[in-house]
Amino acid sequence: MTERKYIKDLNSFVGQEVVIAGWVDVRRDQGKLVFMDMRDMTGITQCVVLPNHTEAMESVKEVRTEWVLRITGIVNKRPERNIKEGILNGDIELEITAIKILNKANTPPFDVTTDGREIGEEIRLKYRYLDLRRPRMQKNIRNRHHLAKFVRDFLDKELFTEIETPILTKSTPEGARDYIVPSRLYKGMFYALPQSPQQYKQLLMASGMEKYFQIARCMRDEDTRGDRQPEFTQLDLEMSFVEKEDVMEINERLLIALVAKLYPNKKIQEVPFPRISYKDAMEKYGNDRPDMRNDKNDPDLLSFCWVVEFPFFERTDKSDNPNTEGEWTFTHNPFSVPIKEHKEWLLERKNLGEILTSQYDITLNGYEIGGGSIRAHEAETLKKVLQIIGHKDEDIERNFGHMLSAFQTGTPPHGGIAWGFDRLIMLLENEPNIREVIAFPKTGEGKDLMMESPSSVSDKQLKELGIEITKKK
Ligand code: AMO
Repeated sequence: MTERKYIKDLNSFVGQEVVIAGWVDVRRDQGKLVFMDMRDMTGITQCVVLPNHTEAMESVKEVRTEWVLRITGIVNKRPERNIKEGILNGDIELEITAIKILNKANTPPFDVTTDGREIGEEIRLKYRYLDLRRPRMQKNIRNRHHLAKFVRDFLDKELFTEIETPILTKSTPEGARDYIVPSRLYKGMFYALPQSPQQYKQLLMASGMEKYFQIARCMRDEDTRGDRQPEFTQLDLEMSFVEKEDVMEINERLLIALVAKLYPNKKIQEVPFPRISYKDAMEKYGNDRPDMRNDKNDPDLLSFCWVVEFPFFERTDKSDNPNTEGEWTFTHNPFSVPIKEHKEWLLERKNLGEILTSQYDITLNGYEIGGGSIRAHEAETLKKVLQIIGHKDEDIERNFGHMLSAFQTGTPPHGGIAWGFDRLIMLLENEPNIREVIAFPKTGEGKDLMMESPSSVSDKQLKELGIEITKKK
């Protein structure tokens, strides 16, 4: 349909015959006249069939909402009294001369012209492809794209390279359970899906890439919540030859720039972003992601805050971290270094509960939207951490040998961060949960209701993988 025009552009074709294509948003049959709102990805326009266009009139009598049509029509200025100010195509109307039905549609299970908040989420997710037609979801998903594009362009100018890292990989401890994938060629062996690209991005620093980023998919087998999905997206980045302040500076600059460009009606409460220590946050706010907004009723107020000086280790009896073997576990990231003043304590294995990590979390309006740290780049430091959290030397060699060996081949000092990309968009779009900004999310119970996954696989597949399922009696 080379001649097809986008609905947003119709205004520039007044007096001309054009072709549009899209969905029937609303249809109002007034007997002699039939009105239709037609919708494409760029907007909506009112169309009318006049009684003198007999063939078009015959077709339009049959069509229903959500049918897909190709329409030929003349763009007319609306009479003065019918002009609707301030809305797209409020001053024009398409006089339909011909209709071609490209596809019919069954009566949809719900209305797609509303914001959808009145509809049960289960049915929305079961028919997600339809749910995504509603204007709110179209806006969220398109703005997500704009955000990703802005980030890519910004980081490109700062000499970052976007690099994809494997999805079929080996377990990286990030504090959650792994999803595992059985190997057919090596029966009884498994890949793990990445909880984050943490090890790969550090290995890319060993490779001399210096500045890496990725809009990366991460998988964690943990209970789902409003701001948590089993599969989610990070803006992940890592930089060589940096200190904490350098990583924080570029992230702060990027966040300020993207709000100014993409959400100009939003106001950042305080710049530079305030900082608070973990200890002060716990004492003053009772949690480590304080909501510092002056006015919690203002949907356009953004209160960013850095939380720093977290304890490196905590006792395992206080933790639900499954990646622990001994008495101590890490609070954030086993690959971090302590703050400079506490490095000796780590190496001498003393005052473990008091060692502070170089970790910095970034929060927005009471949500943790990112976290990162300066890493161990010397084998000795990483090995010490792994020993403290209870890994035996042979396990360290087996599981982290590649990291230790990389650190002995000239790995520069480095550090980075990862943003919870879905969470950031959720907050910028004033949505109550991240499912509203993910095209195909899982339910709270971790199901994809549209694809009906997870699902069983065939006996043949199981046999190929050498897997037997024990059924409960
Ligand atoms: P972390 O585990 O803190 O750090 O993750 C970074 C950010 O990702 C978001 N996030 C999630 N969002 C949705 N659903 C989830 N299940 C989920 N889990 C985490 C949060 C969090 O702040 N490799 C390190 C980063 C680094 O040190 O560079 C990491 O993954 O917003």
